[in-house]
Amino acid sequence: MKSNTIFATLTLFFATGLAAAPTASSPSEKTGGETTIYATGRNAFSFSAANLTDEERTRFVIGNSFFKRNWVEAPASTKVRDGLGPHFITRSCGGCHVQDGRGAPPDIAKGEQPIALLLRLSVPVVGEHGGVVPDPVYGDQFDNFAVQQVRPEGKAIISYQDIKGRFADGTSYTLLQPRYAFKDLGYGPMAKDVMVSPRIAPQLIGVGLLEAIPEAEILVNAARQKARSDAIKGMPNRVWDEYAKKMMLGRYGWKANVASIAHQTGGAFNGDIGITSSLFPNEACTPQQTDCLAAPRGGHGQAAEIDDKTLGDVVFYQATLAPPARRAANDPRVLRGQKLFEQAQCAACHRPSYVTAQSPNPGLSSTALNGQTIWPYTDLLLHDMGEGLADGRPDFAASGRQWKTPPLWGIGLIPDVNGHNCLLHDGRARGVLEAVLWHGGEAEASRQRVLEMKQREREDLVKFVESL
Ligand code: HEC
Ligand code: HEC
Repeated sequence: MKSNTIFATLTLFFATGLAAAPTASSPSEKTGGETTIYATGRNAFSFSAANLTDEERTRFVIGNSFFKRNWVEAPASTKVRDGLGPHFITRSCGGCHVQDGRGAPPDIAKGEQPIALLLRLSVPVVGEHGGVVPDPVYGDQFDNFAVQQVRPEGKAIISYQDIKGRFADGTSYTLLQPRYAFKDLGYGPMAKDVMVSPRIAPQLIGVGLLEAIPEAEILVNAARQKARSDAIKGMPNRVWDEYAKKMMLGRYGWKANVASIAHQTGGAFNGDIGITSSLFPNEACTPQQTDCLAAPRGGHGQAAEIDDKTLGDVVFYQATLAPPARRAANDPRVLRGQKLFEQAQCAACHRPSYVTAQSPNPGLSSTALNGQTIWPYTDLLLHDMGEGLADGRPDFAASGRQWKTPPLWGIGLIPDVNGHNCLLHDGRARGVLEAVLWHGGEAEASRQRVLEMKQREREDLVKFVESL
């Protein structure tokens, strides 16, 4: 009996490869602490936190269904899912966050229109609460689809230009620089000085844990970087939150332009799918879009097309999506890559670890995310990443050259889940190495360090990042 127990323990040890207690130099395999799930493959981003109660799991399943299933045009016989549009990009959250994962830019060779690549629009004026001022005719994002009887806003044209370079060892590489334009505009020209910010739909694992990182820890990141003698100087974004009705530290979006999952969810239902809610009660139609304003509303006479309870379930669902455990964490090449990651100062921005506090999300009513040691590899700060990545479009405190350090957890599973490896804010990079080669500005020294690496070192660095 006793030997059986030992055998079982050993089997578990080898099956899961449980690592020793984490230290700064030895990241835990349990990326999300006790929430971590062990999964690879197509569903790796779609599991609930391992430590939810049965009741919470039921709520997760309900939220999941409203995240994944399609909304339909009003008026429809369904009482709970009509109200799509009038303008929209796709019919469900899952239409962009495919499998809760990373969206891809359109395949331009096949003439596809962007779906998961959102094009944010604004004009160069500072708006209420220091936020953006939308294009007067097209609003704050380009919606390339519409319900019947309403004109779509138009089509996006995307093209790529080759940028060639060489590593110090002579190996050449090619990067793709995207360009964006519009055609077939449904409501006449955009503002002459319109600014366009392309943003790909990121994977949603662990977003609830990111919300539970104490604000003080993120400010410590900025203070530590300020004291550095090199160029790395991150700063927090401060943004308006519609739920808290105050300015808050931004955590979500490629420019940390949103503070809470709740605001992001209400905003996405409204802007991307055309579903109104109590705090986003108006369809995203501008005064010039009279057909959009006149189109039938969904919700069967209710003030909002999605009710607060359902919206809360969708927020709960995302907040409890678990980060998958690391793979191959003790592979010698991964361990060498980890050293290179530290030497190249990647960890200065991609901060490995935090201990979460209590989640501030008022609708969460779960303790699953509290007090977890997590390994997201981000400082949640904005950095000037140089001209090559700049979109030229400020967003609250973020300048046209700044981007938020994205978390790296789960990044190696994007090909499993989504069948592609399109990285960076607009999906231009084909894999981790290209993403690093686009780093400039504050991260220029890191890029130089990678350019000097031998091929084997570059591969080890990538292996480490892909193990996260
Ligand atoms: C048209 C594509 C699209 C649809 C549909 C969409 N999203 Fe997103 N989502 C994005 C993009 C693009 C971003 C990044 C936005 C930014 O940087 O401003 C994003 C960001 C997010 C984030 C923040 C993730 C992070 O770590 O920064 C959450 C949470 C989210 N979306 C939830 C939702 C929910 C819930 C829905 C459905 C109501 C939804 N999204 C529908 C494209 C989409
Ligand atoms: C100065 C801060 C900083 C440093 C240093 C830095 N990064 Fe980044 N990293 C960022 C930011 C900001 C982005 C997002 C840029 C964008 O999307 O345009 C990013 C994006 C990435 C991405 C793409 C992530 C995704 O989800 O698409 C990878 C991979 C990455 N970094 C790896 C590294 C590695 C490896 C190093 C070290 C060689 C490094 N970074 C150094 C700030 C930094």
